[in-house]
Amino acid sequence: MVGRWAPLFVTFLLVTGGLSFLWSAHTRNDQNEQLRMAALALNNPLPSVDTDRGELVARAGGCVACHTDTANEGRLLAGGVRLDSAFGTFVSPNISSDAQEGIGTWSLEMFAQAVLNGRRPDGGHYWPVFPYPAYALMSGQDIADLYAWLQSTAPVSTASEEHELLIPDIARAGLGIWKSLYVPENYRPGLFVERGEYLVEGPAHCATCHAQRDIVGGVSDRRLSGNSRGPDGSKVPAITAAALQDWTVDDLMFYLEIGMTPEGDFSGGHMATVIEHGTAHLSPEDLRAIAVYLKSPANKES
Ligand code: HEC
Ligand code: HEC
Repeated sequence: MVGRWAPLFVTFLLVTGGLSFLWSAHTRNDQNEQLRMAALALNNPLPSVDTDRGELVARAGGCVACHTDTANEGRLLAGGVRLDSAFGTFVSPNISSDAQEGIGTWSLEMFAQAVLNGRRPDGGHYWPVFPYPAYALMSGQDIADLYAWLQSTAPVSTASEEHELLIPDIARAGLGIWKSLYVPENYRPGLFVERGEYLVEGPAHCATCHAQRDIVGGVSDRRLSGNSRGPDGSKVPAITAAALQDWTVDDLMFYLEIGMTPEGDFSGGHMATVIEHGTAHLSPEDLRAIAVYLKSPANKES
């Protein structure tokens, strides 16, 4: 998630660190109140929560991929995936239903605050390597389904590992201002007209890799015009309608399901993981919705 802008990002965090507590507490209060009301509304009366749908959200959102150390045969959602960056290595935490090591004792509200606003239960901030700037756009229904599914999975008592960062953990404090710049307002009904746009922008967080980042590492322009330096330092191609003009809707669906391009090449790097643990699990309807949106004039270059 980081590249050559890393030193600027760190400076930004350190400079803004002191101020951010005050400012973030101030600007986010209303939003937190709204979210709290939404979480309460979700609980009472209980919406029709569907754990199967929640699993699909967890796959589409990459939660399973990033919180399961498949490469080392780690257990489902037990964390331990190492994410190298210019700041050092982040290690994804255990988010299984274990009461001690996972999120088994978390309320829906605590969970919603983490995923939608990057807020820790103690009020601090999560590092945006956890892609909450995109998840902020997820609907309450998806959050509730996702929560229900995570809580229904087997508890795993593996302890979360510490990140091995080159910067002090206290720099997190500076994330308040960063978040007020880069985390969009939470989802509201009517925000997205089409299902495909919702999936691309929200849970599937395609812009996290396919949009350009500015000098402090934020995605301020969500157009999918590619990124010269993606998560592993390699180039991420543009996937605007113009860039995909040679792809048909069926080509795109096939690619997102199987990982094969119209030329017969297989996707590599991070996209292979996104497909294998994410989009390959989506229904044909959702894959079509994504493909149709990517090909539509709404997905434009400028
Ligand atoms: C690219 C990897 C990545 C993806 C994708 C991802 N996460 Fe995470 N997640 C992390 C990392 C790393 C942290 C720790 C952040 C920190 O310490 O500030 C984290 C933290 C969390 C936490 C807080 C856990 C705790 O003990 O405080 C929760 C809950 C969580 N993620 C849930 C999710 C859900 C739900 C999704 C999918 C919608 C998801 N994550 C997608 C990497 C990821
Ligand atoms: C974690 C980073 C990451 C995320 C998230 C991601 N991609 Fe990708 N994507 C890549 C990379 C890297 C490539 C280049 C793969 C290669 O070279 O084989 C790629 C390639 C592609 C391609 C092929 C483009 C071409 O011209 O070959 C398409 C289409 C695509 N992605 C669509 C999506 C969609 C749709 C989403 C959201 C559901 C998404 N990607 C999410 C990193 C990502």
